[in-house]
Amino acid sequence: MVEKRAGRTACKILQNRQIADGIFEIVLQWPKILHRPIAGQFVNLYCSHKGRLLPRPISVCEIDEDKLHLVYAVLGKGTAEFTTFQAGGLIDLLGPFGNGFSLEGKPGRALLVSGGVGTPPMVELAKQLKARGWELDVVCGFRSQSYLVEQLSRYGTVHIATDSGTEGFSGNVIELLDHEALSGDTLFACGPGPMLKGVQTWAKAKGIPAQLSLEERMGCGFGACVGCVTKIITDNESGFIYKKVCKDGPVFPAAEVLFQ
Ligand SMILES: Cc1cc2nc3c(=O)[nH]c(=O)nc-3n(C[C@H](O)[C@H](O)[C@H](O)COP(=O)(O)OP(=O)(O)OC[C@H]3O[C@@H](n4cnc5c(N)ncnc54)[C@H](O)[C@@H]3O)c2cc1C
Ligand code: FES
Repeated sequence: MVEKRAGRTACKILQNRQIADGIFEIVLQWPKILHRPIAGQFVNLYCSHKGRLLPRPISVCEIDEDKLHLVYAVLGKGTAEFTTFQAGGLIDLLGPFGNGFSLEGKPGRALLVSGGVGTPPMVELAKQLKARGWELDVVCGFRSQSYLVEQLSRYGTVHIATDSGTEGFSGNVIELLDHEALSGDTLFACGPGPMLKGVQTWAKAKGIPAQLSLEERMGCGFGACVGCVTKIITDNESGFIYKKVCKDGPVFPAAEVLFQ
């Protein structure tokens, strides 16, 4: 049964379990009345607590028939509340939002690069690229513990880097790209700003076209405030314009993003 409230849809929770330290996977029954999300889009999840009105944007990790898989890190009160939600209950959701990754182009070799909670959107992306005939290297950076490696390994070769050196390569994803001498015809990345800036510089030096998915802090999550703007390079006096990550993004061509 699908219940609509203030434009939101109450989705049935099928599973909500811990998959790594401070990392949870929640599986929702995807209602037929909503558009099927594409790789790189996100949904806004709502808390039940009345003091937490703003939604928490979470990327589509995988959409599998009528099930939406989301993976979230417990950062603050909102994501901590999500961990208390039980299978069989309902969670309010709005979306899917954002532009998603562009999958156009002749298949070749793709590099997928992620950091921390930038890894979940790589699963659906890897699945879609593989289905289109791409060969994939997936390079994931974590603080100390990996997750989603089994799912990603179905679609390509997974390379892990950890800051602590407890798993895989000891260092960051840029160092790992160089260490393994990886290359590709195109690159997709998602993760924290400093990592994306490094990926942008690396891809430019190698001449690889890249798309970056930004995980900017958001307000409304659907274009009504300006809580999520980022600078996009343009040919005007200041050299940039502001674009909304929630509506115009979260995915932008790497060459257009002006990092601070
Ligand atoms: C498009 C998009 C997709 C996202 N996808 C995922 C995902 O798949 N999995 C996931 O775990 N998280 C994802 N995030 C981040 C997630 O939305 C935040 O972690 C979450 O909203 C935090 O809510 P909270 O109430 O737990 O923390 P809050 O109490 O709101 O914040 C706790 C701390 O986290 C910081 N913080 C909050 N949001 C962000 C952010 N976006 N980036 C960096 N720091 C932040 C705050 O400044 C504060 O220090 C995504 C964000 C965006 C914009
Ligand atoms: S979060 Fe409100 S406009 Fe993007």
